[in-house]
Amino acid sequence: MGTRLYPVTKSQPKEMLPLGTRPVIHRVVEEAAVAGISDMLVVTGAGKATIEDHFDPAAGLSPEDAPEDAPSTVDLSNLQLYYTRQGERLGLGDAIRYGAEFAGAEHFAVLLGDCVMEGSELGGPMKRLVEAHATNEADISILLQHVSLEATSRYGIIKPGAALDEGLFEIADIVEKPGPANAPSRYAVAARYVFSPTIFDYLDALEPGHGGEIQLTDAIRAMIADGKRGVGVPLREDERRLDVGNFESYSRAFFRTMLTDSNYGEGLREYMRKLLAHIDDPSEPDPDSVEA
Ligand code: G1P
Repeated sequence: MGTRLYPVTKSQPKEMLPLGTRPVIHRVVEEAAVAGISDMLVVTGAGKATIEDHFDPAAGLSPEDAPEDAPSTVDLSNLQLYYTRQGERLGLGDAIRYGAEFAGAEHFAVLLGDCVMEGSELGGPMKRLVEAHATNEADISILLQHVSLEATSRYGIIKPGAALDEGLFEIADIVEKPGPANAPSRYAVAARYVFSPTIFDYLDALEPGHGGEIQLTDAIRAMIADGKRGVGVPLREDERRLDVGNFESYSRAFFRTMLTDSNYGEGLREYMRKLLAHIDDPSEPDPDSVEA
């Protein structure tokens, strides 16, 4: 619902907030495209119609309207997007159930639309996740980020099992938002998953869990308990998850994307150095004043 970003999200979904030169959801779809995904079902809900407009070539500005120096983006023309709406906000596990027919008998990926994976290679983490899922013949593969002990109350946390090749490991258990006292590790679920369609049977059998919601984490836990194979894929040191859930994390994500942008980064870093010097010591020139 984006309540932590009110009033910015009063009438626009957080997924449409700009992250540098494009909306967050645009970057998420780019990640999927780079990972070789050709068909995507976007599960939206009330108040999220602008997401559909954004990807509709007939709505709003057309590519011909773009200025010559418009930022280059990943080619999404081979990606087919479909939409459905979650009728009631019953939780992440419930939202994923809307994809059951779409996925059919195929393994499928889940990408949450309010954060992006950033690193030296665009879409690198998502690509590795998809590959790891196939190579290890997994039923569940999850991208993981290392978090502080305090932060374990904000994420699904996994218990690592046996080590696999290339820094991957089996998932022995998973628990939703356990907090420091009960966290089985500091490996947090980082908003990207690949599943076998078996997960839909487990989602259908769930009762509401943490926060009264149908929790995806609970379905994964039940699958693992039944002996299904879960594989954890940690983000590498040069990769990170940028989250837009609140003003601080959104600002950090925005700064980082713009300050490292290939077109604008250099100029903005220079501006930022001057601005910080001025904020720390107002006798330093203000980069926004005419004299500077
Ligand atoms: C969801 C999942 C949680 C995961 C998080 C970030 O939580 O339930 O397991 O760690 O996304 O990927 P939410 O942020 O929607 O509360």
